[in-house]
Amino acid sequence: MPARVYAPTPRNLRLLAAALQRGELVAMPTETVYGLAAHALDTRACRRIFTAKRRPDHDPLIVHISDLRAAEALAEFNEAARVIARHFWPGPLTLVLPKKKIVPGIVTSGQDTVALRSPAHPLARRLLKLSGLPLAAPSANLFGYVSPTTAEHVRLGLGARIKHILDGGACRVGVESTIVSVSASGELRVLRPGAISGSELLAGLNRAGLKGRVMKGKSPSPVLSPGLLDQHYSPHTPLTITPRITAAQRSAAEANTALIFQRKPKNVGENIFWFSAGGELPEAAHNLYAELRLADAGKFARMIVEGAPRSGGALAAAINDRLNRAAGKRGRK
Ligand code: TXA
Ligand code: MG
Repeated sequence: MPARVYAPTPRNLRLLAAALQRGELVAMPTETVYGLAAHALDTRACRRIFTAKRRPDHDPLIVHISDLRAAEALAEFNEAARVIARHFWPGPLTLVLPKKKIVPGIVTSGQDTVALRSPAHPLARRLLKLSGLPLAAPSANLFGYVSPTTAEHVRLGLGARIKHILDGGACRVGVESTIVSVSASGELRVLRPGAISGSELLAGLNRAGLKGRVMKGKSPSPVLSPGLLDQHYSPHTPLTITPRITAAQRSAAEANTALIFQRKPKNVGENIFWFSAGGELPEAAHNLYAELRLADAGKFARMIVEGAPRSGGALAAAINDRLNRAAGKRGRK
């Protein structure tokens, strides 16, 4: 039976909340990307996520909760983490903290930390509320492929492997949450860049009268963070990144080469794509995965993609991070 796509009516939301309570999987919209949700405290339900996505079991899941209170039932919060949660939740921010016993090992891949996020999307929040459960939810795509930002993206990837998809339209932000670990002394380590930057987090701490600092580089611990998965988010078409697609590059490109611009160029054609009409970063992030998927569906021999400006702050860093990892798995079939 192929997946059913549900309109977000009150009746359907109740039905989907009940499915989650029974241990079934529900693909749900969040403000970042669609997530594949399951009852986070039910090991068998979580196992279904790994099977449906073909996700290796050493890649831990993010647990979604409605608020700080629900989060504190699952992890040991320090004061710095509490301040940050109060400031940035609900929103595109995931905190990595020491887990409590109640969180099953399958969620954390056996590690002693858990990743927690309170999503802002009203439909994700409805499902959290109606089910009364913490929901483990990685992106609702087959492992390694481009993340989904519409219900149709989810259906194309997982339609034959799951039963329920909640349609909430296109995701507003378009790139996954910032993942940050927070130590008791206020050391912040950004494990995956997203819409919220390390310096914004630090400013949040400082405003509350707490000191802190943003640590550079990958975690020294053996924690498998998304930053370590260099091959990710990849279209099937080989992809290269360039800071700017020049006029010369454009005239040299054959019809079998897709060119993806940050900003819509003057003359467009079958092989020309763009992330944003006016070169705005929020719009580029919002369209990033949809455009990569569109170009990938066009059966081009290769794609050349413009990176976001280096000076563009957190969103540009997040976009370039995803593009770099998309390029890392060239020629994947
Ligand atoms: O915006 C998002 O974060 C979306 C939506 C659905 O909330 N979720 C998402 O999940 O992007 P995904 O598929 O990227 O998987 C979660 C990532 C994994 O790559 C994993 O490495 C990292 O979070 N993660 C989970 N638990 C962790 C932990 N304890 N320590 C470090 N990284 C962790
Ligand atoms: Mg993912």
